[in-house]
Amino acid sequence: MPFLQLKDLHTHFPIKGNGLFSSTSELIKAVNGVSLSIEKGEILGLVGESGCGKSTLSRTVMQLQPATSGKVILDGEDLTALPKSEVRQRRLDFQMIFQDPYASLNPRMTIYSTLAEAICQRHPNLKKDDSLTEKVVELMATVGLDSRHMQKYPHEFSGGQRQRIAIARALAPEPKLVIADEPVSALDVSIQSQILNLLLELREKLDLTMIFISHDLSVVRFLADNIAVMYAGEIVEYGTADEVFLNPQDDYTKKLLSAIPHLEAHAS
Ligand SMILES: Nc1ncnc2c1ncn2[C@@H]1O[C@H](COP(=O)(O)OP(=O)(O)O)[C@@H](O)[C@H]1O
Ligand SMILES: [Mg+2]
Repeated sequence: MPFLQLKDLHTHFPIKGNGLFSSTSELIKAVNGVSLSIEKGEILGLVGESGCGKSTLSRTVMQLQPATSGKVILDGEDLTALPKSEVRQRRLDFQMIFQDPYASLNPRMTIYSTLAEAICQRHPNLKKDDSLTEKVVELMATVGLDSRHMQKYPHEFSGGQRQRIAIARALAPEPKLVIADEPVSALDVSIQSQILNLLLELREKLDLTMIFISHDLSVVRFLADNIAVMYAGEIVEYGTADEVFLNPQDDYTKKLLSAIPHLEAHAS
């Protein structure tokens, strides 16, 4: 059985009427019948242009956005059938990494506090224990940060270092699935590849399962095992990274591929 299974997932939003006689029956089908499987330790690349429904799909997987219909099955358990009270606890199993680490980190909290808090979400009893500091140090090392900086604040770090902190925070509650939503889109190209390499390292080390979202197919190819191409709420193409790159079937995928200016840039 796959580790994560999405079965005919739909997430629809009503279009807000702006006039007295506007119809309320119109829907934005942000996610429109998505079925996908992800194995443990797999990196699935989810690619498609802005507005195609990538973020809504990830929010639906995490149960942050209720599905209109369909199932999200993690480790054999249907999350869409869970009572609300249980969903909150289960949400620790999903952690996200966002495009802008500065916006997603609390500027008033030191790195130590940020990571300690995230660790305690999973291990509340560690709070009064020295082993909490030990865990913070270990986590910082895992993402390539020197723990001598743990009493610093987010603004004292570079963009790339801040994204490492955001990755450490995502790993802190020991999630089953990490969803990285455009995690390198705001970074300089040289920093991008450092972060992508870090994610690959972490996958090896921690057997991470990850959905990696990007509008940039060349970035996705660098680390994804399988690639799903999304267009207008639907998966229009799915295959191994090589299949999708070397033998695209769908016209939209072909268009995305032809829009990559410097394929060679990521090939090395
Ligand atoms: N909370 C919401 N209410 C209404 N429409 C939404 C909401 N969230 C997203 N949408 C719409 O759903 C579509 C997909 O958006 P999104 O998932 O953010 O796409 P992507 O992440 O691929 O850029 C867009 O048309 C967007 O305007
Ligand atoms: Mg998005």
